[in-house]
Amino acid sequence: MASEPGIPNTAIVGLQWGDEGKGKFVDVLAAEHDVVVRFNGGANAGHTIVVEGERLALHLMPSAVLNPNCELVIANGTVIDPSILVEEIELVESRGLSLEGRLHVSSRAHVVLPWHSLLDGAAEARLSDRGDAIGTTKRGIGPAYADKIGRSMAIRIGDLLDEVHLEAHLDKIAPLRLEELKIAGNDTNIDTKELLSKLTRLGQILKPYITDTTWLLHDRVSEKRSILFEGANACLLDVDHGTYPYVTSSNASALGISPGTGLPAKTLGRVVGVVKAYSTRVGGGPFPTELDDAIGDQIRDRGREYGTTTGRPRRCGWIDMVALRYAAMVCGADSLAITLLDVLSGFDEIKLCTAYKAHSGEILDRFPPDARLLEGCTPVYESHQGWREEIDTCESISALPAACQAYLEAIQSHLGVPIEFVSVGPDRRQTMRCAVGTCHTNPKGVPWPLENA
Ligand code: IMP
Repeated sequence: MASEPGIPNTAIVGLQWGDEGKGKFVDVLAAEHDVVVRFNGGANAGHTIVVEGERLALHLMPSAVLNPNCELVIANGTVIDPSILVEEIELVESRGLSLEGRLHVSSRAHVVLPWHSLLDGAAEARLSDRGDAIGTTKRGIGPAYADKIGRSMAIRIGDLLDEVHLEAHLDKIAPLRLEELKIAGNDTNIDTKELLSKLTRLGQILKPYITDTTWLLHDRVSEKRSILFEGANACLLDVDHGTYPYVTSSNASALGISPGTGLPAKTLGRVVGVVKAYSTRVGGGPFPTELDDAIGDQIRDRGREYGTTTGRPRRCGWIDMVALRYAAMVCGADSLAITLLDVLSGFDEIKLCTAYKAHSGEILDRFPPDARLLEGCTPVYESHQGWREEIDTCESISALPAACQAYLEAIQSHLGVPIEFVSVGPDRRQTMRCAVGTCHTNPKGVPWPLENA
């Protein structure tokens, strides 16, 4: 997907295994866009917003909720637990942020039902006995998307507004799902009548927000409004292009935008790929640069690497150029946002993985298509000098220690994609923006040195 000149839209996607800090860039870029759209995933994603000093953890609400001038869209590609969405709407509105007329939820998005999270948990429990668990967030994401693709057992958000249809459908599907749950080892009984009344009640609360977001987004394109697409999860967790089966169940790369919104690929505009200055992963699956040692612990402590959704400690390791080259290619990244660079202060040496050594001894520079192949890979590292200084108050690239600048230059030239943003702390002000288009271009086609925009 190449960026189309003249199209005012931007996509923000994570290029690793999630938790890259995308929310901050959605917040920064929301000020330059009219509409912010979630196109994939559900309450497995998480971001924290700060309202008058209070931290609110949100999972379904687009991260631009603090920007009153932005319309917020939760599009058809998402899976929504309506009770979580209603809780988030009430939480946000109770802090004085109005969502009426601003938030639009697709009638085509699929509903996460109580048995989805129970089935998710039961499958994970069985697999973990055999050491094969995916390590999901247990939010029912996989079972909800499985029902979407399977069609006959699914409920869409629009169905919540049609009680007669919903009752008939629940009567048909609930016994099957409860039987399946029992076979999976979970005896929970879900009363269908109670579920019907809960879903109908939630549907009525959500009614003002439910609409056909496909038409709404096409109208905004015709009106020449600019759209920011907010990816949840990340490219290497994409069900088609990630480290399958250790992925989430949606197209979490930029490739999910078109099917997840109903907008044709040619309207998508530029893609900003968000990259942590090191790597993390939550849950199972191959992670060639993982550091199971004191350096990994130091990164986890400095980066406060614990999950927003599950609180689990994240697995930590060095940055991986093989994985990132692939992810930048798949997403069509036009620029990079490097996050959490401040976490790397205080290391004597910083490593950057440039290739893999396969089980056979072959050196690979292409990311393999299979988790089993990746499991057999060990990283080939380029060593970089670390820096001791804290950098969280630096306001320009030239103010960063020389070793830190050299590390950024190496990331940029390995990926062949220019760095547009560098983040050195959680605050919006701790963000440098580089003038990508005006810098001197080095022989590898990327600009250096970087100057503030
Ligand atoms: P699920 O999306 O709950 O099915 O989880 C599948 C895999 O994706 C697990 O390894 C999760 O830890 C991971 N995952 C899902 N969403 C995120 C995210 O937003 N950040 C990081 N990992 C995630």
